[in-house]
Amino acid sequence: MKEFNEFISDVEVASPGRINLIGEHIDYNGGHVLPASIDKKIVFKFRKRNDHKISIKSGAYESIYVTDLMHLENKSVSWRSYLTGVLYYFKEICPENLSGFDCIFVSEIPIGSGVSSSAALECGFAKGLKELFNLKISDEEITLICQKAEHNFVGTKCGIMDQYAVINGKANHFLLLDCQTIKSSLIPANLDGYQLILLNTNVSHNLSTSEYNKRTQECKSALEKINIAYPEYKFLCDVPAEVIKNYKNQLLVNEYKRALYVSEENERTTKAAKYLMEGEISELGKLLYSSHQGLRDLYKVSCKELDFLVDFTLGLRQVVGARMMGGGFGGCTINLVHENFVQEFLGKIKIAYSQKFNINLATHLVHIHNGVEILK
Ligand code: GLA
Repeated sequence: MKEFNEFISDVEVASPGRINLIGEHIDYNGGHVLPASIDKKIVFKFRKRNDHKISIKSGAYESIYVTDLMHLENKSVSWRSYLTGVLYYFKEICPENLSGFDCIFVSEIPIGSGVSSSAALECGFAKGLKELFNLKISDEEITLICQKAEHNFVGTKCGIMDQYAVINGKANHFLLLDCQTIKSSLIPANLDGYQLILLNTNVSHNLSTSEYNKRTQECKSALEKINIAYPEYKFLCDVPAEVIKNYKNQLLVNEYKRALYVSEENERTTKAAKYLMEGEISELGKLLYSSHQGLRDLYKVSCKELDFLVDFTLGLRQVVGARMMGGGFGGCTINLVHENFVQEFLGKIKIAYSQKFNINLATHLVHIHNGVEILK
């Protein structure tokens, strides 16, 4: 921390994590999602050098990444891969403007907890470089570059939601993002006395990359089969649930379950946005529970720790909705809890969770803040 505080910088950037109220595993299927950027951030400091060397120090990972702009390498996947990917694509677009630099960053975003510390890392780094070298790259391009870095340097075939939310988030608003057009509208986060709470299982079942990519494949093959009879559907989210049900026998069991989940979840997201605008928070909450059921039973990306946390809330009148959030297999649940009940709720659920799994439950009251900000 001392080193971070004493680092003399040209540019400083704060890059947030994100939540997603509803619309999980929908972005790569061309539907709607409802994310927001939050008050947990990575803060970066940058300064230029006179050569092509690059030195990046991470407080969070207690390690350093030293490389040369002329010889970027991605030997094995680690936090460095996200940054190498960004550097690689920046170098492709504007080779004359980049040169060496020093960078140091500290993070308060829990890793592997489903709030996308990875997008915060890529996007904050990319926006910092843009500022440092005055690069002519738009936010739209940065969003796509960061996604591409994750696909090709880390190996996760992610959608666009995380990068988009981290870059475009706005304080006290959700983004209703259409993942086909990559355009969003702002929805005020008026939750009528309810507080958003993240409960972090503190488990990360290491399946996330392989199972994530498997889901994207299953969705793709379901769509290809549906397209034989219905060529008009460009994305799985465009296919109505009725059509999928009628087509059940032509799909493998898993393809059917994934496709049905995707179609229903996309519908839930559009409904959720409407309920949010109308202040119908308990109706919104019910959709969160249905989303969790779908993720658990049809999409199969939940785990026993996440299910326990969601089930625990079921009998509690002051909790109107809860579900797992993010890619799955660990990480957080997102909960809508009445503000008068927050402390009692946290006390009860922490005890129950540690009795059941002998693991500490980390809890966060979420505040929706702006997306990436240039501090200096
Ligand atoms: C990860 C991916 C996103 C999205 C979510 C699931 O966070 O990076 O693109 O697919 O999982 O909704």
